Amino acid sequence: MQSDEIRTKFLKFFEARGHKIIPSASLVPENDPSVLFNTAGMQPLVPYLLGQEHPMGKRIVDVQKCVRTGDLDDIGDNRHFSFFEMLGNWSLGDYFKQDAIKWSYEFLTSKEEGLGLDVNRLYFTIFEGDENAPFDQESKDIWVNCGIPENRIYALPADDNWWSPGDNGPCGPCSEMFYDMSGNVGDLNKEKFLEALKKETVIEIWNDVFMEFEKKDGKVIGKLKQKNVDTGAGLERITAVMQGKQTAYDTDLFSSIGAVLIPVGHDIRKKRIIADHIRTSVFLISDGVIPSNKDQGYVLRRLIRRAVFCFSDHRMKDEEVSVLVDMIVIKYGDIYTNIKDKSQHIKDVIIAESNKFNQTILQGLKEFEKGIDPFVLFTTYGFPIELTVELAKEKGQTVDLEDFKKKMAEHQKLSQTSSAGMFKGGLANHNEKTIRLHTAHHLLLAGLQAIVDKNIKQRGSNITKERLRMDFLCDHKLTDEEKQKVQDWVNDKIKQGLEVVRKEMPLAEAQKVGAEMEFGAKYPEVVSLYFIEDKDGNPISKEFCGGPHVKNTSELGTFKILKEEAVAQGIRRIKAVLL
Ligand code: ALA
Repeated sequence: MQSDEIRTKFLKFFEARGHKIIPSASLVPENDPSVLFNTAGMQPLVPYLLGQEHPMGKRIVDVQKCVRTGDLDDIGDNRHFSFFEMLGNWSLGDYFKQDAIKWSYEFLTSKEEGLGLDVNRLYFTIFEGDENAPFDQESKDIWVNCGIPENRIYALPADDNWWSPGDNGPCGPCSEMFYDMSGNVGDLNKEKFLEALKKETVIEIWNDVFMEFEKKDGKVIGKLKQKNVDTGAGLERITAVMQGKQTAYDTDLFSSIGAVLIPVGHDIRKKRIIADHIRTSVFLISDGVIPSNKDQGYVLRRLIRRAVFCFSDHRMKDEEVSVLVDMIVIKYGDIYTNIKDKSQHIKDVIIAESNKFNQTILQGLKEFEKGIDPFVLFTTYGFPIELTVELAKEKGQTVDLEDFKKKMAEHQKLSQTSSAGMFKGGLANHNEKTIRLHTAHHLLLAGLQAIVDKNIKQRGSNITKERLRMDFLCDHKLTDEEKQKVQDWVNDKIKQGLEVVRKEMPLAEAQKVGAEMEFGAKYPEVVSLYFIEDKDGNPISKEFCGGPHVKNTSELGTFKILKEEAVAQGIRRIKAVLL
């Protein structure tokens, strides 16, 4: 069964059961500044899982493009891909466990409407229960009623069978389905099942999440207004299963791309990295991302550069880019028409970035040969550390990564706290106005917590010379009175002329202090914190932050909230200025 047929079968199966087919959302989340990419089918549907009415109704089915880049280093093995498609059927406050499980079973095993998999090669897990929810007897009973023997159903803890997109949002216990890749695994007790998973003789192919709970700051805080079902089956894995392959790289999803890569040589890992990264780049560019030094653009830059580096002479010729993109367009262009429409633009972007990288490499290689420190290679020549490591490996040398990390942490601290004049380039917007707005930003968060809700968390921020913008988690629109009070609170702190103090401490200690952290950010071993202290030296604001800040709040002038609005369900945005 070809991948196209699997997609179609899935959509049709659920369409016949009252689901409306919706197209994939963009890879770049439209209204959620907290994540760079959609990493699961549920992300673009969060508002509807939380209770907003979906224009297409309560039963939805889709194939969502996803990008996960947390484990780029694993790409090249059988299972990891930076881009994948997730098949999903959705109940938005409609059916629940009974139908979800029954339909999963039918789709997996039915020869006519589904995949026709051999039930003797399937295994199932359910949630074993904890303080948030009990043992999932109901799901177990439903599987048993489908004819699954009890010894093929394993109860596992929250680590395995509680799904959530992160520390915040809809979540719930899940029931997963697994497939025996070899065909001769047979019955397994729980211990042997877990071993088989590790060895990848048995792999997960589908996850039914029963989303009726909500998480805030990593804690389950209670039930949602409605019971939802979110299911996710990776098209890559299902395709490998259907085509009897150990990996999707050997299926029709990649065969035409693979053919183009024959000249790359025999290093399978490198070929896979190229195929994976270029496929992901094509989709990212089609969704509007261009290479840059931050956020989505930085990820794209890394992907293209890493792919280029895998070519034998670290060069990707223009024709090679062109043929690769053409192959991907042939494979995917009828489903994701924007890659067909933008194919020339996609080629241009990859070629331009590849050329830029060649300049970097030429220079960097020369310096590498001279034995220049990896840190200097990075900061002076933009030579990525991964590449230094790979080059060193080829020469049988090792790179002292600890030393590199230490120097990088030091470097970041320094560049963040330096005055504007020293860094005319990237940090040029650290002029006086933005520094003042930055300090006001800290006061605003503290003010929201003091006046509106002490649990308010920041979800994103942006400061220009003119204004500050803060996105934060809050369950309601601020009233005029709340806005006024927050504004007054901040102005009061400005008038009091409070000290802004920078402290450095080990990460663990800083966490104990309970300072505000940026959601999802990674911090070095030693961090810098900014405290705004009242006259008695008690902190009224404490945040992890590289700075810079004003020395005293009296330098800020008058704080004014211009606008308060919704960005997404549960996320509000404030724009404010200093007069
Ligand atoms: N959201 C679930 C997952 O990604 C289905 O596994």
